[in-house]
Amino acid sequence: MSAVMTKILTDRINRIEVSATMAITAEALKMQASGIDLANFGAGEPHFSTPQHIKDAAIDAIQKNFSRYTNVAGVPEVRKAVAERHAADFGTNYTVEECVFTTGGKLAIFNAVEVLIEHGDEVIVPVPFWVSYKDIIEFAGGKAVFVQTSEAENFRVTAKMIEAAITPKTKAIILNTPSNPSGAVIPAEDLYAIVRLAHKAGIYVLLDECYVYLDFTGQAVSGASVAEAKEHVLVLGSLSKTYAMTGWRAGFALGPKPIISAMSKLQSQSTSNTASVVQKASIAALTGSQECVAEMRADYIRLRDRVLAGFATIPGLTCTVPQGAFYVYPNVSAFIGKGGIKSASDLASKLLTEAHVVTVPGEAFGTDEHIRLSYAVSGDVIDKGIERMREFFAKLG
Ligand SMILES: Cc1ncc(COP(=O)(O)O)c(C=O)c1O
Repeated sequence: MSAVMTKILTDRINRIEVSATMAITAEALKMQASGIDLANFGAGEPHFSTPQHIKDAAIDAIQKNFSRYTNVAGVPEVRKAVAERHAADFGTNYTVEECVFTTGGKLAIFNAVEVLIEHGDEVIVPVPFWVSYKDIIEFAGGKAVFVQTSEAENFRVTAKMIEAAITPKTKAIILNTPSNPSGAVIPAEDLYAIVRLAHKAGIYVLLDECYVYLDFTGQAVSGASVAEAKEHVLVLGSLSKTYAMTGWRAGFALGPKPIISAMSKLQSQSTSNTASVVQKASIAALTGSQECVAEMRADYIRLRDRVLAGFATIPGLTCTVPQGAFYVYPNVSAFIGKGGIKSASDLASKLLTEAHVVTVPGEAFGTDEHIRLSYAVSGDVIDKGIERMREFFAKLG
């Protein structure tokens, strides 16, 4: 046998890691399967069922044998529905050709980065950030350039902060508002200022609008409303959280035609079209009554307040007030150094094994002193989890 070892895996796959949230979910599922009762705040997905009219549209599509390949970018009706929803809500004017429907929002982000980012390109990412950005950028050969924010200012991201991070290698900026993990919302004036700045500098703005409709401030905003910057703006959207459709895998991108065409080309050599039935369900979601979204949003606000009220009873735990999404991002620095806990990861791990509470450590999102909890769970799970956390932290002294 040859002494020369053949390298099995590529450098690019070795550059990335398994999504931290998915790893925690897998561990929690294992514990649950062995009969352990968990208070599970790990998974970032709605606890609601998909609204009935969306399910009905999928069933109807199956019954009518809408079961063949469609256009790679999605049927024109679903792309029109995406563009018209965005136009109605944010005053944008995307055409069907400026939209590609994708198998989940994550794929929209992945494909956008693949077609825009070259080896050595820099992408500005405000901290804390969604777990997948760094790996998606590095898989493409790019470099994530992190912009620190201040918790005391509710993790605010401003044009000034972005400007300071721009170098000749900067190709794009990724913005996620409302934010996973912090729930922070970038106010309209800051968001528009960043988009204008990027446009002037010739830098692309990737707007991750996964939680755009779960904005508790009363007015959802999109950076794509800055019409003059259209050539540098890419909207990366998802139906997952808005319509409680995480498992369906429905997402989209809206943007300049050359970029959308390139993303479709990539899709033509990978996933092809999003499942035909899912496209029909998505049309129902996007064109039907949006009352279901308002109802779920109102529930998330109630659940947020319930978690925060619970946190207020735990001495040492501090937390900014999230303005959207369905996550809280408490600061746990008061407990690091106690009871052998060396880091937020350590704390999350002990919370899981000793208190049976599932959280995600802040390291996954770029900060060392936080844990993330998803409160898209029932009020009873919140109460149970808070009680367990209170006991756990009290024992640490
Ligand atoms: C910030 C953010 N962007 C994008 C996504 C992707 O969502 P999906 O692929 O389910 O549409 C998620 C999912 O957790 C997210 O939290």
